[in-house]
Amino acid sequence: MLKILFAPLQGYTTGIYRKAHAEIFGGVDAYYTPFLRIENGKPREKDLRDLNALEGNAREIPQIIANSVDEFKILAEALIAKGYTDIDLNMGCPFPMQVNRHRGAGLLCDTQAVQDIMDEIRKLSSVTNGTAPIKFSVKMRLGQDTPNEAFALLPILNEAPLTQITLHPRLGKQQYKGAIDFKSFEKFYEESRHPLVYNGDITSVSQICEMERRYPKLAGVMIGRGMLTRPSLAAEYKGLRDINCAAPLNCDTHQNLLGKLFQMHQVIFDHACKTYQGDSQILSHVQSFWEYLEPSIPKKIFKKIKKAGKLSEYQEAIMEMRGLS
Ligand SMILES: Cc1cc2nc3c(=O)[nH]c(=O)nc-3n(C[C@H](O)[C@H](O)[C@H](O)COP(=O)(O)O)c2cc1C
Repeated sequence: MLKILFAPLQGYTTGIYRKAHAEIFGGVDAYYTPFLRIENGKPREKDLRDLNALEGNAREIPQIIANSVDEFKILAEALIAKGYTDIDLNMGCPFPMQVNRHRGAGLLCDTQAVQDIMDEIRKLSSVTNGTAPIKFSVKMRLGQDTPNEAFALLPILNEAPLTQITLHPRLGKQQYKGAIDFKSFEKFYEESRHPLVYNGDITSVSQICEMERRYPKLAGVMIGRGMLTRPSLAAEYKGLRDINCAAPLNCDTHQNLLGKLFQMHQVIFDHACKTYQGDSQILSHVQSFWEYLEPSIPKKIFKKIKKAGKLSEYQEAIMEMRGLS
């Protein structure tokens, strides 16, 4: 069975979202946090506060984004101090704000900076935090401008003590659209010495099964937008796997899905009301919950949710939807 990892999505997979998802939908082996970054020379407080969201069986793996070994050290040490023993390094973020500062996909062309970070990873991997050793993984793209970037880095990555590489087989300049380069993914899959996780455009159980069939050595799939749109996807795959990949989906009925969505929304809504002040701040934290759920809710309600400028208008739209379900 493939591991199902929930991809980090800045602005969507917040601590409360991860916690509510793990409790209500489940099926996910690990939740990756949106990246922790440096602000004014220190780890960003707001990012740090959003960590340690999960209790119980699901795991939370924090992610960092760094442009040099110096930034990497500051961030890794902050997470180690918080008790984490698994840390993921972002080498794929395509947002110009990060790429232009040599972070995310902007780091892929710099073999020396990556070598320095991998040397630091080797040092930190031999340190133990309490009892467990610290483990590092990487989430990356094929390059910012060309897939040659990933292949130039591969010998360095192969030598480093990484637990896993997650590859999103697009270039940074494509952002999140355009063709996925399966040819380069397959070459990377053959040449990587580390367990490889596939990430990109997975939206259904049959696609997960197809990845499992095509790539027997694959360690897992990481799913982002597909999970926001269909939060039951991981649990559906896990349930189905016991039966047969070709069998009809053992999925929740639409009614059941809506019931769980309301439950999850309630947790996120209550948290936002407790944590933030004023309609616009609260709304900005709850409206995003519905953004990728457009296919599952009536069009009219979706528009009302999106357009609501006051909390009362928003609540009216939610009540109306509950009435319809
Ligand atoms: C709005 C948004 C925010 C994202 N934030 C992060 C992030 O903080 N860290 C990261 O590694 N990837 C981030 N990603 C990329 C996703 O984790 C994932 O790699 C990408 O969406 C492709 O996977 P998908 O097709 O399953 O969504 C973000 C993507 C989007 C659309």
